[in-house]
Amino acid sequence: MGVTAVVGLQWGDEGKGKVVDILSQRADVAVRCQGGANAGHTVVVKGRRFILHLVPSAILTDGILCVIGDGVVVDLDVLDREIEELGRAGFPVDGRLVVSTRAHVVLPVHKELELLQERSRGDARLDTTGRGIGPCYSDKHARLGIRVGDILEPAALGGRVTGLFRAYAAFGRGGLKSSIEANLAYLELHTGLVKRLAGDTGSLLRQSLSQEKKVILEGSQGFMLDVDHGTYPFVTSSNTGVHGLATGSGLAPARIDRVVGVVKAYVTRVGAGPLPTAMEEPVHSEIRQKGGEYGATTGRPRRCGWLDLAVLRYACALNGVTSIAVTKLDTLSGLSPIKVCEAYDLKGTRLDRFPARTEVLEECEPVYSLHEGWDTLEGISRTQDLPQAALAYVERIGEAASAEVELLSTGPGREDVLRLGS
Ligand code: IMP
Repeated sequence: MGVTAVVGLQWGDEGKGKVVDILSQRADVAVRCQGGANAGHTVVVKGRRFILHLVPSAILTDGILCVIGDGVVVDLDVLDREIEELGRAGFPVDGRLVVSTRAHVVLPVHKELELLQERSRGDARLDTTGRGIGPCYSDKHARLGIRVGDILEPAALGGRVTGLFRAYAAFGRGGLKSSIEANLAYLELHTGLVKRLAGDTGSLLRQSLSQEKKVILEGSQGFMLDVDHGTYPFVTSSNTGVHGLATGSGLAPARIDRVVGVVKAYVTRVGAGPLPTAMEEPVHSEIRQKGGEYGATTGRPRRCGWLDLAVLRYACALNGVTSIAVTKLDTLSGLSPIKVCEAYDLKGTRLDRFPARTEVLEECEPVYSLHEGWDTLEGISRTQDLPQAALAYVERIGEAASAEVELLSTGPGREDVLRLGS
């Protein structure tokens, strides 16, 4: 198949990094399409844990060309550090990584703006990751942003940064600590890095497809954090679903052959915003501990909830999901019964669709079914050896998603995976 998109179907941290790592064993090119260093994709290779914020997870697989695409907002400091760390760990990126000249650059001023915005929201703050994502995307859409390609035009760069600060002053943001000179110096500091890596990645990808190469699009964050379709305003600032992967890679949507939706066996959320199926104590703390549910980027503890099929049906419908990867099933081992949210109850009326307004979602009560648990998944390497209750749980996910479960992850390592389906 030409193009495979991998999309998280919950609030992020579904385990996309591992799924991409597995699927990319059969790919030629891997692409990050949206988001930025707010992402933290964890991959465990031979017992060693890697957390990637910007470079596609597939960099850990030999021979794959990795692309940071048009729709990403790039933190050049983080990228530089990540490249250095990968090099030290025996994964040099040179010749294997291309960054789009169309991608926007997260500037130091964006981080300052984010801090000020969060502070101004008081109790209504979003608990963002502090990576400058929102302000960078705001400037992009206001047509004020600085793109990677601009760094290659030093004569014009000063004018662009000055224009940006002029616009900030016009908006009454004149009191910023960050200066034109400091932001320009930051960009100039990274000129060498950009010269080494920048290219027209959209064109490169279209050319790769014409050469019958296999491309994998690596989504970041989850669909419920999508700026249009998620739990607004408690979302990130990009389109995290398949739509964003098409725009952010520079490929026509119709070129995407399959969409693999990644579903954690329960849900988690980091940052503010509703989580209808939040687990009760002491199960909540047990699952957080057992699942290591702490943010890969910020280290913040994640809130944990029961699997939410209303979310799953909604996310599958909007993403045209063609198959599912279920992750972290092992975290639920030893728990019985396991609750599954079938639908919502809104003031006595059953709601099967996902509500458009977050205020309405906050009034919804989950309608649970109880699912029998299983003891352990340890040492299981064949589908037929799975405990019956675990298999039934996975089948329930496939049924709600109206898609085949293709992969089942039963532990953190590359080898802890079962390939199901036909
Ligand atoms: P931002 O993307 O930093 O603006 O944060 C907006 C919201 O999305 C916050 O609640 C973050 O915690 C959440 N968020 C952003 N990126 C991720 C991610 O990769 N995984 C999980 N949550 C994320």
